[in-house]
Amino acid sequence: MNAVIIYAYLTAILILIWVMYSKEKKLHRGLIQSLKDEREKSARYIEDLDGLLFMLTQFQEMGMAYRKAEDLTHLCDLIVEYATELADTDIGSLMLIDKKTNRLSIKAAKGLSEEVILKTSMEIGEGIAGRVAQEGKPIYCENIEKDVRFMRDSNAKYGSKSFMSLPLKVKNKVIGVLNINKKIAGQNFREREQRLLSILADQAAIAIENIQLYEDMKHMYLGTIQTLAKAIDARDPYTKGHTARVTKYAVEIAKEMKLPYKLVRNIEIAALIHDIGKIGIKDNVLLKPGHLSDSEYEKIKKHPRIGEQIIAPIEFLTNVAPLVLYHHERYDGNGYLEGLKAEEIPIGARIIHVADAFEAMTSSRPYSSGISKEKAITELKTHSGRQFDPKIVKAFLKILARNGMLEERETNGNGEKTDSAGAAS
Ligand SMILES: [Fe+2]
Repeated sequence: MNAVIIYAYLTAILILIWVMYSKEKKLHRGLIQSLKDEREKSARYIEDLDGLLFMLTQFQEMGMAYRKAEDLTHLCDLIVEYATELADTDIGSLMLIDKKTNRLSIKAAKGLSEEVILKTSMEIGEGIAGRVAQEGKPIYCENIEKDVRFMRDSNAKYGSKSFMSLPLKVKNKVIGVLNINKKIAGQNFREREQRLLSILADQAAIAIENIQLYEDMKHMYLGTIQTLAKAIDARDPYTKGHTARVTKYAVEIAKEMKLPYKLVRNIEIAALIHDIGKIGIKDNVLLKPGHLSDSEYEKIKKHPRIGEQIIAPIEFLTNVAPLVLYHHERYDGNGYLEGLKAEEIPIGARIIHVADAFEAMTSSRPYSSGISKEKAITELKTHSGRQFDPKIVKAFLKILARNGMLEERETNGNGEKTDSAGAAS
């Protein structure tokens, strides 16, 4: 009897132990699971935070880059670069609607052949991009070959299966389409990429609209400036073509010196209008043949200041004005207006000074015939380090030696034979 009781007692204890162990095990498993869940949750949070940080950095960088864009083409290149980076792909294109033809064409692209870029042009409503432009809504496609919506559209030329086409809209008006493609079928865009690219497209559209407005305004101003430049040359028939030749030399030198794009453009504009201040000089002084009296020379010397005052109010010519103002300063400080020397003189003004002097030396006037190219080159070398910046003279001589610019003989507007410096032969 005792043995039965002991046996039952032991069994009860074992059952109790087993129940407790099972509970403990369950609790343990639950604990491990919740720890796993927490770890996964944390990983997701970290991933989201990383994504957010990446997104913020990208948009900050994009905003800064857009502001630095040199022109519309540069801006479109930047947009495609950022969009493909965000989507982690090598294929993308940005199409804009031509205001005159109302057709879409590629303005910037990555991963597409030159032939595709040049030949792609479509009507609004035509093809996938045309449809996006017409409807103003994005299209996402995972696999074009299996998507019934695009059975008639071929995306083979892009070599991609999945893609995203987003409208570039400003105030509900579509101005273009951003296309981002993935090469491999099934390599789809994640939700985060879709969101990011949609924000990017909105930002890009505004930046494009702004730069287009700015460029339109610039073209208008430049048109006026070129008309003014022609008017300056027209006042003195003997210096006809002077401005165009000075501009050509100055731009060549600036490029040879590998100056930044924006500076080269400013030098080009400054060279075109460097003598615009002569508008304010009376004909009896400006067109006087032979030597000028001291007082007449003093009047002529005012033209850089008058020129600077004319263009100073024009905002986009802010960096051009100093080049006009100082184009008669000499490297040794003996020039006018302020007697600046060497690096004190803006590089653009130093370049225009060399180009202007060379053109003037080799051109014929009614009271003096131009000197030969060899003599002009000797003059440049003799005055290098005095009147002229030696670095600029060196660059100019390199250009002259390389492309034989002076050897070319062209026909001027009057049908006369001229050398490239414009001196009638
Ligand atoms: Fe001048």
